[in-house]
Amino acid sequence: MTHSESEHAVWAGRKVVVAVSGGIACYKTAALVSHLVKAGSKLRVLMTQAATHFITPLTFQSLSGKPVLTSIWEAHDHQDSQHIGVARWCDLLIIAPATADIIAKLANGICEDVVCLVACALPRNTPVLLAPSMNAQMWANAVTQHNIATVQQVLKYHTVGPEEGWQACRTTGAGRMSEPDAIVEAAAALGRAEGTCER
Ligand SMILES: Cc1cc2nc3c(=O)[nH]c(=O)nc-3n(C[C@H](O)[C@H](O)[C@H](O)COP(=O)(O)O)c2cc1C
Repeated sequence: MTHSESEHAVWAGRKVVVAVSGGIACYKTAALVSHLVKAGSKLRVLMTQAATHFITPLTFQSLSGKPVLTSIWEAHDHQDSQHIGVARWCDLLIIAPATADIIAKLANGICEDVVCLVACALPRNTPVLLAPSMNAQMWANAVTQHNIATVQQVLKYHTVGPEEGWQACRTTGAGRMSEPDAIVEAAAALGRAEGTCER
């Protein structure tokens, strides 16, 4: 195991939920999930309905070896309500990509899809890491900036990125989702700092 791999192994054997909202960077999340599984994390994947337009649940089911939740109305393996069961099970929630829409929902306590419902039901000390991803104008939008400040300051969520660079809308600007390696590194840093991230 390389130094970097052993650093990332901080989540090995731990329960990580990767939640996918509907942005063009969804394809990068497949690599993120694969990396976390390879590093030994137990993975569950949640997707918004919008995310399923960009990448299929089958991809994440194959990579995680577990059914993917795409609705608040389905239950696979919990006696409790599915969202409560997943929220209790979760040691770390990563939302990647985090759309402008899901950030707005999180900031306002909206619970209408499986991603924001599970996030809202998390115990206070479960760390949450967001990887925002959107067009530069959407990222610069004053309401988006207000919402991201709310989730950071009120909910104590952590963020990685977004980065400056080439965007799917064929322009350059701030809003590009961080690469999977950078998200894994940010998650590892959170794991090392665990206990200091009370929400
Ligand atoms: C082709 C296409 C690409 C999109 N890419 C993004 C994106 O990268 N980031 C974002 O915030 N919204 C993006 N959107 C808009 C979201 O998909 C839309 O706001 C949706 O309601 C998000 O739902 P969700 O947050 O429940 O996943 C895109 C929409 C389309 C049609």
